[in-house]
Amino acid sequence: MYALPQLPDDRRPLPIGIFDSGIGGLTVARALAQALPNEDFVYFGDTAHMPYGEKSVAALQAYSIKITEMLLKQPCKAIVIACNTASATAYELVREYVGTRALVANVIEPTVAYLAGTFAGKRVGLIGTRQTVQTNAYLRRLQDQGATVELHSLATPLLAAMIEEGFYANNVSREAIHTYLSQPELEGIEALVLACTHYPLIKPQIEAFYQGQAVEVLDCSVLVARRVAQALGQHLLLNPKQTPGTFRFFVSDYTRSFEASSRLFFGQEVHLELYPLWR
Ligand code: DGL
Repeated sequence: MYALPQLPDDRRPLPIGIFDSGIGGLTVARALAQALPNEDFVYFGDTAHMPYGEKSVAALQAYSIKITEMLLKQPCKAIVIACNTASATAYELVREYVGTRALVANVIEPTVAYLAGTFAGKRVGLIGTRQTVQTNAYLRRLQDQGATVELHSLATPLLAAMIEEGFYANNVSREAIHTYLSQPELEGIEALVLACTHYPLIKPQIEAFYQGQAVEVLDCSVLVARRVAQALGQHLLLNPKQTPGTFRFFVSDYTRSFEASSRLFFGQEVHLELYPLWR
């Protein structure tokens, strides 16, 4: 295990760490950068182990702790688990591991808070990876809060791979989306939670599917960015500098295609640096 650095007295100038199974979490990074333009960020995509959606809970927890250790080593003042699958399976463990060394945020809680406040007693759908759906993480948190939202989840494992292949606005993606959203689990819903980093890219096609129906399609990245900004403010951790923030992007395995796809998710050119997790 690495020796972790001594934290400075003033943590406000430190970067915010973000991690995901790969490059899909750049949708969350993008929303965070928009909400917090003066913050510096360190992004880690575990491209060597993606997709997380099909991995065991034990493996996901081990990867998440290893990445957290890397982000603490920077050191980061906050760690945002941008991946739904990692949030569903490793958040509590990561929070325990980090202790008071940094704030820890996940992508589930802000969405759950919004659902509880907006869709009480209503039928809401959720799509995500197999592991996100199997763990019932959203439903458990809703129940913990005593929320009466009627949540119906559907695993849609083809979608993330499809989007990574660049199929997010063509006939193939339209067919796949149509097939999944027509499943009985999602009948009669008033909102659909996009519980996967990749899905903001297919939000327009999903909205087109529901055209004419009152179904709110929820992009969690915006809710997460708002929540992180609020938490930093509450803990007096906002960066006081007035200049634009910087980004460093690390991946555990590098290929050119990762770098090319990164543009899709982040909306601008990204330079990926290789950082093998076990070295
Ligand atoms: N990042 C994952 C999530 O949000 C999706 C891709 C994967 O399976 O690794 O759940």
